[in-house]
Amino acid sequence: MDDSSDLRSLVKRLNSIGVALSSEHSLGRLLETIVSELRSFTRSDGGSIYIKKDDKLSFEVAQNDTLEKRFGVVPFKSSLIPIDTRSIAGYVALTGNLINIPDLNAVGDDTPYSLSTMREFDRKMNLKTVSMLAVPMRNHKDEIIGVVQLMNSLDDDGHPVPYDSWMVEIVSSLASQAAVAICNSILISDIKRLFESLVTYSAQAIDARSPHTAGHSLRVSKLVMRQAEAINRATEGPFRDVYLSNEEMNELRMAAWLHDIGKIGVREYVLDKVNKLSDDRIALIASRFDLMRSEAVGKAAERKLALLVGGTYSAEKAAEIDRETAAETERITEDLALVIKLNRPGPFGPDEAERLTAAAARTYRDGEGIEHPCLDPDDLEHLLVARGNLTDSERGEIQSHVRHTLNILEKIPFTQELINIPRFAATHHEMLDGSGYPGNLRAEDIPFQSRIIAVADIYEALTAKDRPYKPPLPHETAVAILREEAKKGKLDGDLVELFINGNVHESI
Ligand SMILES: [Fe+2]
Ligand SMILES: [Fe+2]
Repeated sequence: MDDSSDLRSLVKRLNSIGVALSSEHSLGRLLETIVSELRSFTRSDGGSIYIKKDDKLSFEVAQNDTLEKRFGVVPFKSSLIPIDTRSIAGYVALTGNLINIPDLNAVGDDTPYSLSTMREFDRKMNLKTVSMLAVPMRNHKDEIIGVVQLMNSLDDDGHPVPYDSWMVEIVSSLASQAAVAICNSILISDIKRLFESLVTYSAQAIDARSPHTAGHSLRVSKLVMRQAEAINRATEGPFRDVYLSNEEMNELRMAAWLHDIGKIGVREYVLDKVNKLSDDRIALIASRFDLMRSEAVGKAAERKLALLVGGTYSAEKAAEIDRETAAETERITEDLALVIKLNRPGPFGPDEAERLTAAAARTYRDGEGIEHPCLDPDDLEHLLVARGNLTDSERGEIQSHVRHTLNILEKIPFTQELINIPRFAATHHEMLDGSGYPGNLRAEDIPFQSRIIAVADIYEALTAKDRPYKPPLPHETAVAILREEAKKGKLDGDLVELFINGNVHESI
């Protein structure tokens, strides 16, 4: 190794191994890379890696050129082995000592570790392991996090030769570099998992504030992912050239989970609304009508008393008062029945609206004898809502959830891979024809990902089973509505067809 060009190529090789190790973040691929780089560096026929999991070693990767040539694949099953002297890897992990065996044939049974598992494997696979090197992988805290084992370093003629001392030194140092890369990769995936559970639990908690929305974000995320998978699978049709990478899929999934996070800013009273006024409010109104009824009866008694006192009382006059009172109380009862009818969402005629407006102006007296109209202007506005159960301001409050979604998500310092989440999540109520909210965006300004969420969101809202007061629409009806919305130019027609033909709904 004193030749300077050899040294230069060694440094170059080591550098490129370093780059390969630090640029791979998927743990599975990283472990494969470590074994293959160390094998190619030491010209080893075989190699394997074990990672410490609690008090065991997990056998993660096995590579072997001879077996691969023979069987096409290396027969390998991931397994857990104890950290003890019954195996080479166990011994290395236990003691931190490396093992370098130049020739296994020359080794007896008096080693501090057992070679029987290895010899048994050789016998079963008809292999002949001659040289072997097993090194501990130490991380930046000097903890042993695993073991790399290399078998049969080969010379130019393909014959096994011992691992020489400079090789051992470099493998040891690369193993530690690999250990740091493994720790980083585990840390990154732990942080990702932590973030994901924070997102999904928050979204589920916010959904659970109302039985109307419980489970909604979970189901929307499932539908969205199924749609995205169908897009990625498409080899013909409008999506044949569209492909979402793993990172884009993850970003989309998180956006779907978070699309309604802004509902945290909408009052539960509004989210939970079934009728136009709350039950408490209706009970209060009913008690006012009771007061009006008692007042009418009281007035009749006063009138009869006045007749008696004035000496003009007669049975006919009393009967007349009774008739008038009965008519008055019946009218009050009918007015209340009208209030209760109009409280439920549903069609009503202009005559009923007129009767209610007239009834609202009638008054009752409170405990101090002060007169009040029996319906407040606010009650009347609610009861006269023509479609659904929400007033304009309540509808505005519900629609404001997308603004809250944007406000909340914009404050989160997303990593570059997730940077579009706020935009994707906050435009899920925009419609391609510009009739959506909050921005009245038109097709060209609505991201593809938001269109996917929009289709899933509407389907889920129509078919949700956990809305206690609203029966779910059957699949066929919901699908017909989606097609109708696409025909009107609101939803992306290609996505709607993909949703239907790809049986996306089966994911929920
Ligand atoms: Fe929404
Ligand atoms: Fe939603």
